[in-house]
Amino acid sequence: MTKRILITSAIPYINGIKHLGNLVGSQLPADLFARYKRARGHDVLFLCATDEHGTPAELAAAKAGKPVAEYCADMHETQASIAEGFRLSFDHFGRSSSPQNQALTQHFAGKLADQGLIQEVDEKQVYSHADGRFLPDRYIEGTCPNCGYDGARGDQCENCTKQLDPTDLIDPRSAVSGSTDLEVRDTRHLYLRQSALRDDLNTWIDGKVDWPILTTSIAKKWLNDGDGLQDRGITRDLDWGVPVKKGSDDWPGMEGKVFYVWFDAPIEYIACAQEWEDAGKGSDWQSWWRTDKGAEDVAYYQFMGKDNVPFHTLSFPATILGSGEPWKLVDYIKSFNYLNYDGGQFSTSKGRGVFMDQALELLPADYWRWWLLSHAPETSDTEFTWETFQQDTNKDLSDVLGNFVSRVTKFCRSKFGEAVPEGGTLDAKADELVQNLQARLEAYQTHMDNVDVRKSAAELRAIWVLGNEYLQTAEPWAVYKSDPETAAATIRLSLNLIALYGVLSAPFIPDASAKILAAFGLEDCAWPGDVATALGTLAAGSAFTVPDNLFSKISDDDRDDWKEKFAGART
Ligand code: 2FM
Ligand code: ZN
Repeated sequence: MTKRILITSAIPYINGIKHLGNLVGSQLPADLFARYKRARGHDVLFLCATDEHGTPAELAAAKAGKPVAEYCADMHETQASIAEGFRLSFDHFGRSSSPQNQALTQHFAGKLADQGLIQEVDEKQVYSHADGRFLPDRYIEGTCPNCGYDGARGDQCENCTKQLDPTDLIDPRSAVSGSTDLEVRDTRHLYLRQSALRDDLNTWIDGKVDWPILTTSIAKKWLNDGDGLQDRGITRDLDWGVPVKKGSDDWPGMEGKVFYVWFDAPIEYIACAQEWEDAGKGSDWQSWWRTDKGAEDVAYYQFMGKDNVPFHTLSFPATILGSGEPWKLVDYIKSFNYLNYDGGQFSTSKGRGVFMDQALELLPADYWRWWLLSHAPETSDTEFTWETFQQDTNKDLSDVLGNFVSRVTKFCRSKFGEAVPEGGTLDAKADELVQNLQARLEAYQTHMDNVDVRKSAAELRAIWVLGNEYLQTAEPWAVYKSDPETAAATIRLSLNLIALYGVLSAPFIPDASAKILAAFGLEDCAWPGDVATALGTLAAGSAFTVPDNLFSKISDDDRDDWKEKFAGART
């Protein structure tokens, strides 16, 4: 039965190009899932956007010497084109600075105020004399009061994931200038009374028994550990952001202030659907988001790195539940640990690791997609090294998949021509292959449905391996000499298997899959119901062309050059 599946990936910050660790922790697995669910015939809406507000955007624009709105527009285009390069199949790539998000953010704030969940608080805030500005969130650094990490930021400690307020930090300093000439000034801000929703959130999370442990453990930790669910300041003294309003009304006392970036960013998941409709790409966006307008039957999946989990399990659901309106809550949150880079951490601020644009300059998307997804940091942090990248992609993509495709198609061309050969009957080895493939296909589907990324990759690899093993035992090149009919049957089955690989591999390696399918004139090949039937898709006589070499091997020289090239920081 066709289902409606809403998928969002954490929306990347606008200030710079993301690294491969960011990619594997949100957008790429979300894309894998979206492609798979579409292939299974479901109605998928896959949304992502750029996260454009906040101090980082302002500072990055200043550094680039551009007005912030222009900087964001340019970087949005850059990120959109890199996403396309990685074949991320968003139905819409929106912007959190859109008018739709501005209106919706103000709408939510108004509703939360109507429900008595917003409190106006007079507070003290850090002002930096050296920088001539208030220093909110992440632009104050200091020591985490929870774990003692000395590089904690004012919005969150990346070491222990605790959400922080800037004034919580011990020994604070400006992350812009390093200045400690900071002054605390009076200012008034809005707070979201998350603590009033603690029981509702607890009950909601308790119902999510199938969520990954990583997600629920982080959520529960901040819900129930001591002062875990604190009320959150949702406004800031900044110029760039969504102006603070109560619905469409002014909010007395809040003039010149904007909403905190983490308040409006997740609301962009909703606004992005509206942008999608307004861009003429779809209709009835509310049927994806409002349970009173049809979203009751939508299954909603979110993808994100572990540092984003508290905002998605607590803050954003608090906004939705607290609004008192029937907006859809997420059904499944898939979160990821970190991917490390060659003995340390990937780091945007330090320019350490491989960034998405650089990766595409080295190799086509499929290489990266395969390696990253097959090593997705699901149960623990994992590490990218050039050695494992070379070794694994050469083996899986060239030796296993590429080799099978090439051997079979080239052998067929030389002995039978470029059409599926006829004649002969299949033997017990073929029956065994079909049975094994059927079992593996079912396991593959189960893992994909459960969003078990590495297990899915392992199963797909095993499906590729079965083809090679079959060829090894059936030996059509030897059999051909005495019994060309049987060799023809083996090759017919193998060609069909290649076409099946084209379909099954598409969520992981869409470009190679498209090449395979195009070689058989099968652009629209459906997901297999059962393997035996699927292996009869190409009838004898169907023409094909030998596809170009699908994957080239990464040489030792390339590996060493790249390792050296990426050893320092990106400037
Ligand atoms: O960590 C990040 O890159 C954030 N920009 C993610 C925001 S996700 C959401 F809530 F919108
Ligand atoms: Zn900490």
